[in-house]
Amino acid sequence: MIIGIPKETAAGEKRVACTPAEARRLRALSHEVLVETAAGEAAGYPDQDYREAGVTVCDGPGSVWSQADLICKVRPPGQHPVLGAHESSLLTEGKTLVSLYWPAQNPEMTRVIAAAGGTVIALDAIPRISRAQKMDVLSSMANVAGYRAVIEAGQYFERFFTGQITAAGKMPPAKVLVIGAGVAGLAAIGTAVSLGAMVRAFDTRPEAREQIESMNAEFLSLDFDEERRGEGGYARVMSEAFMAAEMALFSEQAREVDIIITTALVPGKPAPKLISEDMVRSMQPGSVIVDLAAEQGGNCSCTVPGQVIEVEGVTVIGHTDFPSRMARQSSQLFAANVRHLLSDLAPAGDGVLKLDLGDPVVRSSTIVREGRVLWPPPPVGPDPEPPAASPEPGVVPVTASPASPGSRIWMTVVGLAVGALAIMGMGAVAPPAFMAHFTVFVLACFVGWQVIWNVTPALHTPLMSVTNAISGIIVIGALLQMNAGNMLVVGLATGALVLSSINIFGGFLVTQRMLRMFRKE
Ligand code: NAI
Repeated sequence: MIIGIPKETAAGEKRVACTPAEARRLRALSHEVLVETAAGEAAGYPDQDYREAGVTVCDGPGSVWSQADLICKVRPPGQHPVLGAHESSLLTEGKTLVSLYWPAQNPEMTRVIAAAGGTVIALDAIPRISRAQKMDVLSSMANVAGYRAVIEAGQYFERFFTGQITAAGKMPPAKVLVIGAGVAGLAAIGTAVSLGAMVRAFDTRPEAREQIESMNAEFLSLDFDEERRGEGGYARVMSEAFMAAEMALFSEQAREVDIIITTALVPGKPAPKLISEDMVRSMQPGSVIVDLAAEQGGNCSCTVPGQVIEVEGVTVIGHTDFPSRMARQSSQLFAANVRHLLSDLAPAGDGVLKLDLGDPVVRSSTIVREGRVLWPPPPVGPDPEPPAASPEPGVVPVTASPASPGSRIWMTVVGLAVGALAIMGMGAVAPPAFMAHFTVFVLACFVGWQVIWNVTPALHTPLMSVTNAISGIIVIGALLQMNAGNMLVVGLATGALVLSSINIFGGFLVTQRMLRMFRKE
């Protein structure tokens, strides 16, 4: 399949849908990649890097749109300034578009593409299920946006994030309030905490508490009895009474905190207004509000989408292009998500696209297929639980009932008695040298068992280093027995040598992998 990467045409959009590194991976999946000249320039990927990755760089948009079977771009189709046509009209029969698309907001465009026989796969319609996380462009971009929100705040907040005690005096840490702890909110919390700020956060979804606290931030709770979860784990529109209570909480917070980052959204609805003008005015001069919901109308009444304004010394940032402000990073994440999607869509690795509508990820994201409108898709349930083993008909499952303490003592006494009798019997017939070795062997088994049994499973991998040492001793023992002359002994020694070597080399490999996980690239 020929994959075409046009230059984004939306004003201010710096991202590109495919980076040279991902183009190389797409080529390894038997695809050919064409890229429009300067498509990656604004994101820091010059044409030369694409050429080195084996990509054909086309002179203008015309050849990309006409030659490619699949067009991959970031933004939904729009009016093309050079071609003088709407990009949707270029998606004719046999052509597929993969991009952000927002199908609910673009029904007319869907009709146009369907009439021309094109196919559309919307990245924003990929269901938020665990299996599809690797293709989740929304999460990748929200992650970048949350991080960038803190960096943008830092530009206008003319103080340290972390507290300091210096000879010149004591500086308290910045207090940051994050409203909405979805992907962007959690990224903002993580970044602000790592810069040393004191972070508190609020979300309507109850499960957010644990996530917020696990990131060393404080969860602001609201004692209000109301169902807070909506469809698909997203937030729902809350009652007026809840919103009033929530705003009272924020009004108290606004007087205390230095930076507010708002990310509150309810899918398909305008952003809830949570920070009133009075709250903005009540903040200390020099404070900053970053409204990540600006594109959907903003969580703050003072937000002007796309602009940075000042209200009585408080800066209100309403940028709508946070991911584009880190275009190199976001393009790489975006391109990796798309490559995962494309490798799932051409599973044979032969570069041939197969849209299996039985797959909920494909079904949900396919908006138009060869002229047939498939939007809206049926709802996707939560990730399936692993099936419980069902007993065969007629077979009564036998469940082990826990033994009572009395019977457990009896079992131990009987076990010890049998063991003692067996050792006595063996002592009567076996040579004394054997008994000495056997006693050491039994004690070693017992001590080894007790030591390993009491180690928590999380530490089993580091434990391999210890077993490596034991394996080393076994290797020496086995080598000493190699010339024993007795075939049985030599056989056992060889077996011990092989097994111990596997343990030693496996241990080194696992330890190295673990160390790599902690190494900073
Ligand atoms: P989002 O961008 O739609 O909303 C942001 C946050 O605003 C949400 O956490 C929401 O609860 C919160 N919010 C809405 N109204 C609010 C209000 N009045 N006050 C305070 N907070 C309010 O959400 P995002 O980041 O796209 O993710 C939302 C959900 O999707 C989460 O449950 C998340 O765990 C889930 N998700 C699941 C993924 C998966 O693959 N399983 C991947 C990504 C997200």
